[in-house]
Amino acid sequence: MRDENKMVLRSIEIKNFRNHIHTQIEFSDNLNLFVGGNAQGKTSILEAISYLCLTKSFNANSDFYVLNFGSKFFEVFGKFRFDDGHEVSVRVSFDDEQGKKVFLNRENVEKFSTIINKLPVVILTPRTKEVMYGSPEDRRKFFDLAIAQLNSVYVDEFLDYKKILRQRNRILNAIANEEIKLEQGIDLLDVWDEEFINYSAKLIFRKIRFISDFIGFFKSTYSNFGENESAEIEYSTQIEVSAQDDFETVRERFRAMLNKMRSEEIKRGVTLIGPHRDDYIFKINGWEVRKFASQGQMKTFLVALTMAKFFYLKEKKLETPILLLDDVFAELDVERAKKMLSFIGNVGQVFITATDLDVLSGMEGGFKIKKFIVNSGRVFDA
Ligand SMILES: Nc1ncnc2c1ncn2[C@@H]1O[C@H](COP(=O)(O)OP(=O)(O)O)[C@@H](O)[C@H]1O
Ligand SMILES: [Mg+2]
Repeated sequence: MRDENKMVLRSIEIKNFRNHIHTQIEFSDNLNLFVGGNAQGKTSILEAISYLCLTKSFNANSDFYVLNFGSKFFEVFGKFRFDDGHEVSVRVSFDDEQGKKVFLNRENVEKFSTIINKLPVVILTPRTKEVMYGSPEDRRKFFDLAIAQLNSVYVDEFLDYKKILRQRNRILNAIANEEIKLEQGIDLLDVWDEEFINYSAKLIFRKIRFISDFIGFFKSTYSNFGENESAEIEYSTQIEVSAQDDFETVRERFRAMLNKMRSEEIKRGVTLIGPHRDDYIFKINGWEVRKFASQGQMKTFLVALTMAKFFYLKEKKLETPILLLDDVFAELDVERAKKMLSFIGNVGQVFITATDLDVLSGMEGGFKIKKFIVNSGRVFDA
C-alpha cells in the first residue's frame, strides 16, 4: 500500500485555446511525451493543464493571450483521479463578457486559491530559469506560489497585504507631492500601519518557516545530483528573523523597523520596508550562485529547486503533484533531464514536451510512456 495519494490527470478537453481548436487527450498516469516541431502547440497543452491546477497559464499574463485568435471563448476541461478512487473535474472557461469562470465538479468556484491548493502542480519551463537569473520579484513569485499551493490562507493574506501596501504608498506619495499636509498624512499612516505591520509580519513569518522546512528537501535533492557541494537557500528580509522566532517577536521587530524608516519613507514617498522587498539568496559552498556559478551549476540548482518543490508538496499535501516539463531536454541537457525523470518518473505523473521522439530512449523499460505527436494544434497518438 502506498501511503500517499497519487493524483492523476486522466484526460483533458481543450477548446479555442491558442492554436488548439478542439483537442481531446487521454493521458498515461505515468509519463506523457508530446513531440512536434516548433510552434505546433506542445507548450499550449501544458499551459492548458496549468489552467486546471493554477487557474492560469505559466506563460501568459492575460487570459486574452491564450484565447484563440478569432474565437469568442476558450474552455479547458480536465478529469483528475485520486488514489482512493474519487474523481474531480475542473472546468475553466473564459470569454470577453463573463471573464474567467472556474468549476470544480460543476460547482462554480469563487476563490481560485481553492483550486491552487487542491491540485498541486510543479512546472519547469524555459522561463523558470528567471528564478536563477532574474530579479528578486521572480524569486518571490516562485516561492510565493509554493507557499500558496501549500496553504490557501497565504493567498488571501498576500492579496490583503498588497491592498494595504497600495493604500500606504498612495498616502506616502500624496505627502511627498504635497497633495496633503504632513500632519494629515501622518494621521492616515497611523490608521493603516497597524494592519500593515500585522500583514507584513504574517507573510514574513510564513516565508521564514517555509524556507526552513523546504531547505532539507532542497539539500537532499541537490546532493542526489552527485555534486560534492553544499547548496543553500537563504531568505533575506529587512528585519532580523529566524525560524525559532514566534509571531509576536517578528511583528515587534517589524514595527520597530517601520518606525525607524518613517521619515525616510515620507521623504521618498514610497513604502521602503516589507515582504514585497524580500529576496532569496542561492549559495553553493558559501558563494553566491548568481555571481559565481557555471551554467551547469545553475541548471543543477534549478532542477534541484524544481524537484525539491515536487517532493516537498508531495509530503506536505499527502498528494503527489503532477509535473509539467516544457522543453527540458533542450534547456537542461539530456543527461540532467533524464536524471530528474529517473527520480520523479516512478513517483508521479509527468507531462513532457520535446522536439525529438526518441528523447526518452533508454528509459522505456521502467516507465509507462504514452507518446503523442502534436501538429498544427492537433494531437495524435504516436
Ligand atoms: N491566441 C492564439 N490564437 C491562435 N494561435 C496562437 C495563439 N497564441 C499562440 N498561437 C500559436 O499557437 C502555436 C502555439 O505554439 P506552442 O504551443 O508554443 O508551440 P510549441 O510548444 O509546439 O512550439 C504557435 O503557432 C502560435 O503562433
Ligand atoms: Mg514550446
